[in-house]
Amino acid sequence: METTDAFVGLSCVDCDGTFDPATATHRCPDCGGVLDPAYDLDRIDLAPDDLAERPYESMWRYAELLPFPAEAAVSLGEGATPLVDCPALADAIGVGRVLLKDEGSNPTGTFKDRGQSLAMTAARQHGAADVALNSAGNAGQAAAAYAARADLDAHVFLPSRAGFTQTAMTEVHGADLTVTDPIDGDSQIGDAGRAYAAAMEDHPDWYSTKTFVTPYRHEGKKTMAFELLERLDWETPDAVVYPTGGGVGLVGMHKAARELRELGWTDELVPMYAAQAAGCSPVVDAYEAGADRHEPVPDDEIDTACNGIAIPDPGASPLILDAIRESNGGAVATTDREILDAAIEVARAEGLEVGATCAAAASGAFALAAAGEFGPDDTVVLLNTGAGNKDVDALRAHLGEREVDEAAAKTDGAGGTTETAGE
Ligand SMILES: Cc1ncc(COP(=O)(O)O)c(C=O)c1O
Ligand SMILES: [Zn+2]
Repeated sequence: METTDAFVGLSCVDCDGTFDPATATHRCPDCGGVLDPAYDLDRIDLAPDDLAERPYESMWRYAELLPFPAEAAVSLGEGATPLVDCPALADAIGVGRVLLKDEGSNPTGTFKDRGQSLAMTAARQHGAADVALNSAGNAGQAAAAYAARADLDAHVFLPSRAGFTQTAMTEVHGADLTVTDPIDGDSQIGDAGRAYAAAMEDHPDWYSTKTFVTPYRHEGKKTMAFELLERLDWETPDAVVYPTGGGVGLVGMHKAARELRELGWTDELVPMYAAQAAGCSPVVDAYEAGADRHEPVPDDEIDTACNGIAIPDPGASPLILDAIRESNGGAVATTDREILDAAIEVARAEGLEVGATCAAAASGAFALAAAGEFGPDDTVVLLNTGAGNKDVDALRAHLGEREVDEAAAKTDGAGGTTETAGE
C-alpha cells in the first residue's frame, strides 16, 4: 500500500485500538467503531511557506496531511474552491465579515467530491473492483464520477426524494443505480440504507464508500479547513456555520483544526456551528438537550425540502457533538421558509448560488446573530457545500410561492380585508 510518511494507522474512536490500514479497511475489527486515520505529526515534512509555493489546484496539495500521496490519488481536480467575501451579507447579518466557501465549484458540484476522491483512492489501493454506498444524492453522484475515473464499478442506492440531477448524473457516469420505492410519499435515506445493506450481504466483496463506514470520507473533508485557514493566513475565524446532515464535513474540518493547532500553524480551534432544518434537526435537538448523542427522528416526521440534511439518524452524532462542544461552537435550526428565503437573499445580494441544503448555513447565521452569538467585528464563514443549481426545483418553487403570497398580500392590502388590517 502506498501511504504518506506521517500516516501511522487507523485508530478506533470507541476502543482506542490502532490498526494497519492495509488490512483494516472500514469499521474497527474489534468493536465496530469508526476508524480514524492517525498521524505522527513530528513526521510531517511540510510548512506553510512550502504551501505558498504550490499552485492552488486541488486538495491534494495537502497530501502530507492525508493518508495517501498525490501520485496515488483518484482525482478530478476537487477542492481548491474559492472563498468569497460577502459584504452585503455581513451588513445584513451584523458582523464584520462574511466569507462564503463555495464548494459548488467542485467537479460534480459539491464538497462530496473531496471524500469520494480519498475513499476511491483507498478502494483502488485495496484492489477493489466494485464500490457501493447509499446516499441522500450528492455523494452517490460523486461516487459514480470517481468510480468512473478509477475504472471501478459503482453501486449507488438513493431514496426517491433524491434530486433529478443526482439520480440522472449517477447513471450518466455509468453506475448501477437503485432508487428505493416511494412508500406513503417519498422514500428516505434510511430506506436506501436498508437496500444497500441487503445488497452488501449478497456481495461481501463490494467496497463501501459510505459515510463513516470508510475511514476516508471525513479525512478528505479536512482539506476544506486547510484551504480556509491557509487563505486566512492561519488566523482562525470566529465561526464556521455548516449545513449538517451526517456530520462528515463538520467532523473532518474540526479534525483539521486540531491537527493545525498541534502543528503550531494556528493558535486556536475553529468554532464549528451545525446548521440544520427545523423539519429534521436531531443534532441541534441533542445539542440543546445537553445530550451526548441524538434521538432518531421518525421517517414520517421528516419535513424539509433540504435533501442533503434530511438525515434523521446520523450515527456519528457523538463525534459531531464533541466537535461542536470542544470548538466552542453551537447548533441552530431554522425553518424551510427561512432557509429558502436566505438562498434567494444570497443570490440577489451577492450573486452567489447556494443550494437549498446549503442555505441552512446562511439562515442559521442570521438566527445565530439574532440570538447574540456573534460580535459586530466577527468573521463568519458559511460553507456552501454544493452548487445552487443542484436544488433548482426547490428554489424556483419557493420563489413561486412567494410571488403568490406577495400578490395575495397586495390584493388584501388594497381591499383592507386582511386579518391584521382591522387590528
Ligand atoms: C449539499 C450538501 N450539504 C451538506 C450535506 C451534509 O453533509 P455532512 O454529512 O457533511 O453533514 C450533504 C449531504 O448529503 C449535502 O449533499
Ligand atoms: Zn474499536
